[in-house]
Amino acid sequence: MKKIGVLTSGGDAPGMNAVIRAVTRSAIAKGMEVVGVLRGYNGLISGDIIPLTVRSVSDIIQRGGTMLYTARCAEFRYEEGLQKAKHTCIENGIEGIVVVGGDGSFRGAADLSARGILCVGVPGTIDNDISMTEYTIGYDTAMNTAMEMVDKLRDTAQSHDRCSIVEVMGRNAGYIALNTGIACGATYIITQEEPYTMQDVIAKIQNARASGKHHFIIVVAEGIGNSEQIAKQIEQATGVESRATILGHVQRGGSPTVRDRIVASQLGYYAVDLLSKGIGNRVVGIQNNQVVDYDIQKALKMTKEFEHELYRIANEISF
Ligand code: F6P
Repeated sequence: MKKIGVLTSGGDAPGMNAVIRAVTRSAIAKGMEVVGVLRGYNGLISGDIIPLTVRSVSDIIQRGGTMLYTARCAEFRYEEGLQKAKHTCIENGIEGIVVVGGDGSFRGAADLSARGILCVGVPGTIDNDISMTEYTIGYDTAMNTAMEMVDKLRDTAQSHDRCSIVEVMGRNAGYIALNTGIACGATYIITQEEPYTMQDVIAKIQNARASGKHHFIIVVAEGIGNSEQIAKQIEQATGVESRATILGHVQRGGSPTVRDRIVASQLGYYAVDLLSKGIGNRVVGIQNNQVVDYDIQKALKMTKEFEHELYRIANEISF
């Protein structure tokens, strides 16, 4: 393979820049040319591509966001969009593409691979909701950001003897909620993966109160939502003043952590390694601390166990 592209797609995640850097540098080291495709699959359809050199990816490993911009692309779900993308690749001599994103982006990568442009997916999303990998790039940074925010909320909750209900991102997955909750000593963690009732939540607060606790943190996963409603119910039932905070997009920004930079560098490198061997339609990920790769269709059908044991521990030690 003589020339490859790299693009970031879907929601941005800290560490995407580190992937772009690793892809560019390792491809150039193997004698390939590299281009960056702007704004995800949109750039492939419109031909919005830029050359990447060893120096154009300098000074980005520590930056959040993505230097290539990102977007979700509805047109790419249709044959016409796919054909335009294929045409751009052929016209520019692009034989393979590294796609950094989530499951939606991998579907596009499979469709393009089936049309002769080999793609390798790299899991980049703060949600950690990709089944074929234990870890997605951006997850660690997002959890650390959420943890810092919850620590700050605890200060004010403590000062006012309040209950702070904090909603964290994760789409339909509760990984950020569970891990942030345990790291912040939340009194209750509400996720879609674990059954709960408001009576359980209220009873937990009341029991803790009876043992002398004055302030409470309740972490709520985005998929549950209703944080304002939950706050009202808690206040009514317990008499503890309650405030809801939705952390939102702050969780997507910031300088990537050590873990995100390292995993991004490893997976970017391996993605290029596969392409250089003429292998596409794969997704790379991490299983048991090892880099693995799977056929994209197979990866999309895999399922992931929630961390039930960690949830049980969190529940047992928060009172
Ligand atoms: O997938 C990352 C994520 O931040 C989710 O946690 C959230 O549900 C979604 O993206 C928000 O998307 P948008 O940036 O389009 O509002």
